Amino acid sequence: MKVLDFTGLKNVQKVTKGLSQLLADLQVYYTNLRGFHWNIKGKNFYVLHKQFEDMYNDAAEKVDEVAERLLMLGETPQHNFSDYLKVSQIKESGLVTDGDQAMKNILETYKYLIHLERQISADAAEIGDDATVTLMGDYIEEQEKAVWMMVAYFQ
Ligand SMILES: [Fe+2]
Repeated sequence: MKVLDFTGLKNVQKVTKGLSQLLADLQVYYTNLRGFHWNIKGKNFYVLHKQFEDMYNDAAEKVDEVAERLLMLGETPQHNFSDYLKVSQIKESGLVTDGDQAMKNILETYKYLIHLERQISADAAEIGDDATVTLMGDYIEEQEKAVWMMVAYFQ
């Protein structure tokens, strides 16, 4: 028994490849955020410590949504971190204690994620995969708002 036999979606390979990429990227991003949350120092500690917690909780939710979307598209999501590191375009941040450096890292991550999600959305639209289009649209909307706020932080 296969999910796609019931949902009627076909030619999902480009979409599942994109979502698998996104999953790996989000997992590395998540661990980077935990590091920022733990290790940040300085005058903005209280605000940023809490902000990074909100962000990693959000990233964890997205990890689960993307993995489950892959299952709905008939794909088995990767769960080994060694596999994520092979494909992730988001690199491990290393130790970051400076708030501005962490925020810049996150801003660059969003730039990359938004670009990838737009590509996934376009591929999903080609095969009529409305649910993935909506999911990516939701992520892009949230992240564009976050970009606005982070840019404001630096002004
Ligand atoms: Fe904590």
